[in-house]
Amino acid sequence: MLRNLSLRSLRITRALTHCNYATNVPVTTALEGWPAKLKAAGIEDTEFNIKCIVSHVLNRKFNTVPDSLAQLNFNPTQLADFERFLEARCARMPLQHIIGEWDFMDITLKTAPTVFIPRPETEEFVRLVIENYKDAKHVNMLEVGCGSGAMSLSMLHTLPQVVSTAIERSKAATVLAAENAKLLGLEGRFSVHNHTMEEDKYMPEELKDQKYDLIISNPPYVKTDEFQYLHPEVVVYENLNALDGGSDGLRVARLVFELACCHLHPGGQLWLELGNEHPPLVKTIMNLKYEGRLKFLSSYYDQYKRERFVQIERV
Ligand SMILES: C[S@@+](CC[C@H](N)C(=O)[O-])C[C@H]1O[C@@H](n2cnc3c(N)ncnc32)[C@H](O)[C@@H]1O
Repeated sequence: MLRNLSLRSLRITRALTHCNYATNVPVTTALEGWPAKLKAAGIEDTEFNIKCIVSHVLNRKFNTVPDSLAQLNFNPTQLADFERFLEARCARMPLQHIIGEWDFMDITLKTAPTVFIPRPETEEFVRLVIENYKDAKHVNMLEVGCGSGAMSLSMLHTLPQVVSTAIERSKAATVLAAENAKLLGLEGRFSVHNHTMEEDKYMPEELKDQKYDLIISNPPYVKTDEFQYLHPEVVVYENLNALDGGSDGLRVARLVFELACCHLHPGGQLWLELGNEHPPLVKTIMNLKYEGRLKFLSSYYDQYKRERFVQIERV
């Protein structure tokens, strides 16, 4: 009886194995035609895009997938997902939204439709701020417009002495940032408030008396008339409230200057990531409008040698 049973299960296992081989498809076969389709859709670096999607479909870390993709197979479900994701990429959906998560510095963040995808230059910005605060004893920080939480959460991950409060106008981003904080175990030092900073209503009621040692922000800074030059990934899939900085790109930054006057301790600093034409303009605004309140300390360049980051002090 026992022998009959084990013979039967052996036959079933063999049948399943056979069925598996019959329906699995080598990744290299599944790929045929796709590089050309991606190129025709205007996607650059097709190899990187394909490898990201393959590693996501196979649920494997990117760096464990060989560049050649040799000896990898998709089962029927994976094959269907692979084709669906590549179709989405041809429609210029950002990889980050297809994959649902993205690495930022040393942390992995969940992404969500309409929530701003953190950019590589922002990693440089955060590294600069970390360098300046690594020896501080305690830092009570505010972030204006936290999106997915990338800047605050990577700072908290690196510097245990930082506590961060964020305000964010998008409900979806507010929920996502809180979720990312929880996933990273940082929720004890991070809180996010769904609030739209406006003239005369810079902070939510519950934070109106708070003062901070440091304010950071990567506000929307794209000039409205530059929208026509942006890629479809940005215009179609991102929330324009995360990008639109008005006619000179500084509409939201100007609100942050006012907020900083009221909510920074004397000697506290405001760090901003802006467009490459903005730092000299911000310096002029500080000298003309904020003398005795805010002082322009310095500006910094990104990896493409564009002047992008500014450091301001509350007098
Ligand atoms: C360029 S994104 C930066 C997001 C995130 N800090 C990052 O670097 O990935 C700007 C963010 O500011 C938010 N935002 C825009 N205007 C705002 C306002 N008036 N008050 C609060 N948040 C605002 C947007 O919703 C968006 O999430």
